[in-house]
Amino acid sequence: MSYKEGMLREDALKGKTILVTGGGTGLGKSMGLYFLKLGANLVITSRKLDVLGATAKEMESETGGKVLALSCDVREIEQVEKMWADALAHYGKIDVVLNNAAGNFISPTERLSTNAFNTVLDIVLKGTSNVTLTAGKSWIQSKQAGTFLNIVTTYAWTGSGYVVPSAAAKAGVLAMTRSLAVEWAKYKIRSNAIAPGPFPTEGAWSRLLPGDLVKKFDPAKKVPVGRVGDHQELANLAAYLVSDFSAYVNGEVITIDGGEWLMGAGE
Ligand code: HXC
Repeated sequence: MSYKEGMLREDALKGKTILVTGGGTGLGKSMGLYFLKLGANLVITSRKLDVLGATAKEMESETGGKVLALSCDVREIEQVEKMWADALAHYGKIDVVLNNAAGNFISPTERLSTNAFNTVLDIVLKGTSNVTLTAGKSWIQSKQAGTFLNIVTTYAWTGSGYVVPSAAAKAGVLAMTRSLAVEWAKYKIRSNAIAPGPFPTEGAWSRLLPGDLVKKFDPAKKVPVGRVGDHQELANLAAYLVSDFSAYVNGEVITIDGGEWLMGAGE
């Protein structure tokens, strides 16, 4: 056995339809692919339909599953509502929302323009609330059970320099996760979160750390277990939290970072 292997039985998500925002690349793509392998139908969204379309094809040919690619900027409520309506029309129901879409700049805060700061708040906090409200209202109205899984980071509670808008927005997403876990449980809607530590994703790391920085950066340096995460480890945890095996887990945030955050917050 290895942490690089899938953990759940092959029908763990059979009959579920799962929406993954930011599902065309990176961690969203890895989690979505594993959901498919466990029998789920998938909806993936992002702003880039060409990237999504290629990912959907790749995922379908690898698993034989069904993937619907819909372009959607989560900051725009009209686009979110249209995406939700299109996904419902296609599959008839959606059972799970994985709020994974994010944006981030690593920068001294005083160098960020107001627009840059607000861009990160808008993608992370408003984007998550747009999708959450749309899905939640729809589930409540149709008396359908639902599950939210939100991606946050440990600096949502430790704080961290140079990622202030992201930290503020992720703290908001964590508060939303816990608050809705209390309020919407009566509608059979669960809300949980995962706080991943360093998991390499080509796109995000090279964009966040431009030029030589990405080569000099050793993401495993502060991790007590001495390595970065494998995407399958995150996918195993995400699949558990969206499956019915975790029916009694609600309002929880689970950190998967090899113990990194206990080494102390950044500047
Ligand atoms: C500072 C920047 C900037 C940068 C752009 N801006 N890049 N400011 N540093 N590197 C400014 C722009 O000048 C502009 O302000 C404002 O931000 C908006 O820029 P746009 O290009 O119009 O933004 P937009 O197209 O909306 O895209 C924002 C985006 C997003 C965040 C780049 O497109 C994106 O790609 N997100 C997905 C990738 C990602 O960020 N993943 C990271 C998640 S990982 P002005 O004032 O000029 O108009 C994560 C955890 C990692 O968050 C933890 C690591 C520590």
